[in-house]
Amino acid sequence: MAKEKSLMDVIVALAKRRGFVMPTSEIYGGIGSSYDYGPLGIELKRKLADLWWRDMVRSRENIVGIDSAIIYHPRTWEASGHVDGFVDPLVDCRQCKSRFKEDDLLEHAAKAKGIETPPIKENGLHLDPDSPEYAKLPCPNCGNRGTLTPPRAFNLMFKTFIGPVEEGASSVFLRPETAQGIYTDYPQVLNSTRLRPPFGIAQIGKAFRNEITPGNFIFRTREFEQMEMQYFIVPGTEDETIEFWKEERMRFWRETCGIREENLRFHTHGPDELAHYAKSAFDIEYQFPFGWSEFEGIHNRTDYDLKRHAEYSGKEKDLMYFDDQTRERYLPFIVETSAGLNRALLAILLDAYHEDEVDGNTRVVLKLDPKLAPYTAAILPLTKKDGLPEKARELFNSLKHEFNVFYDESGNIGRRYRRQDEAGTPFCFTVDHQTLEDGTVTIRDRDTLDQPDRPKMEQVINLLRDKVYA
Ligand code: GAP
Repeated sequence: MAKEKSLMDVIVALAKRRGFVMPTSEIYGGIGSSYDYGPLGIELKRKLADLWWRDMVRSRENIVGIDSAIIYHPRTWEASGHVDGFVDPLVDCRQCKSRFKEDDLLEHAAKAKGIETPPIKENGLHLDPDSPEYAKLPCPNCGNRGTLTPPRAFNLMFKTFIGPVEEGASSVFLRPETAQGIYTDYPQVLNSTRLRPPFGIAQIGKAFRNEITPGNFIFRTREFEQMEMQYFIVPGTEDETIEFWKEERMRFWRETCGIREENLRFHTHGPDELAHYAKSAFDIEYQFPFGWSEFEGIHNRTDYDLKRHAEYSGKEKDLMYFDDQTRERYLPFIVETSAGLNRALLAILLDAYHEDEVDGNTRVVLKLDPKLAPYTAAILPLTKKDGLPEKARELFNSLKHEFNVFYDESGNIGRRYRRQDEAGTPFCFTVDHQTLEDGTVTIRDRDTLDQPDRPKMEQVINLLRDKVYA
């Protein structure tokens, strides 16, 4: 790889050039850390979401899906603890006017001194702002000491208004996680299904957080998509359930999505890292160019959320599960799996990026799993004459209803192959003069560059099915 550029820069440039991910509203100069998905990106994102849905919902008899609204009743967020607890303490430098999260400030100071960040105190802060230690902290930007304001709690939820009048009574929040819609819908889902614990409710959808330090491309943005599943279980079965889902989720990323094993690991949350709702939490981390970081969390949320919704809605009975066999009524416990679609997509792009040498030239290739590749195949007539385009279109038409295939007749064949390598297209089928004679085509494998036996045109569809539905 070009040494002078980091892998991250290379991916950001490739994503924009090839239409995977690009800055939003670019003609107006963009808006910080907001991105759009282009023609290749939307295919990759949809395929990843579909694979997750297939793995989590369609292939399991005890998990169903929903698609809830983004704006929930505002009491939801009081009950969930997000109004009080979903905050980041913020610090300003009076001198240079920079703004930091208290966490980042302390991490910076600790790194400079080679010491650990002090643990969080009961009030949610690491240090007492009136203490002499606090006064000695340097501003990470200008280095001055004694210029930092005391931390102020900043809620990460986006507030907006329903109706034309900006009054307190009509203010609502954009959801910062999709999970709460599942909890509040759960009694209705139970009424319309015959589920019994353990059972799950899944959803994929947008979530919004007014992040103070978004960055690293699509890793941390203010608007993103989550793929979440809430598993309702009998109290006391949390530990085995967590183990089950840890294994299942890791299998999904390794085997179904093809992320390399050496780039994946678990991280167990220490007591300081736990979200306000979690009793224990395990992250699945990817080795991003900026370090190991989480892209999915598996959390033991206990009965925290349902208990709080029972209290705030007064609908305790509705939220309890009635076991008609034991005649017992109880609040289920929840184990949640919560993945970021965009973050996972970034991990997949980074993991797929390869450079090799072909005929003395550097070849850029995205080794995406055929299940995820935006185009499953490209159909290329060798030349634009002799009836080859017509034959190639015939093949294209036989595939297009089932697969996203790309037809390309322009330019030299080597260049056309390279374009498909960069897009991650796993197979190219070339229609040549022999096709006119015996109905066979060449198949070029993106990763090995092999061109094994020529399949018949009518065999191509099954060949792709074997790769994509494996
Ligand atoms: N319901 C639990 C929950 O939301 P979380 O660890 O805060 O847990 C889950 O978020 C996942 O959502 C993360 O692992 C990450 O992949 C994704 N995520 C969270 N904040 C994000 C952000 N600002 N930008 C992109 N993805 C984000």
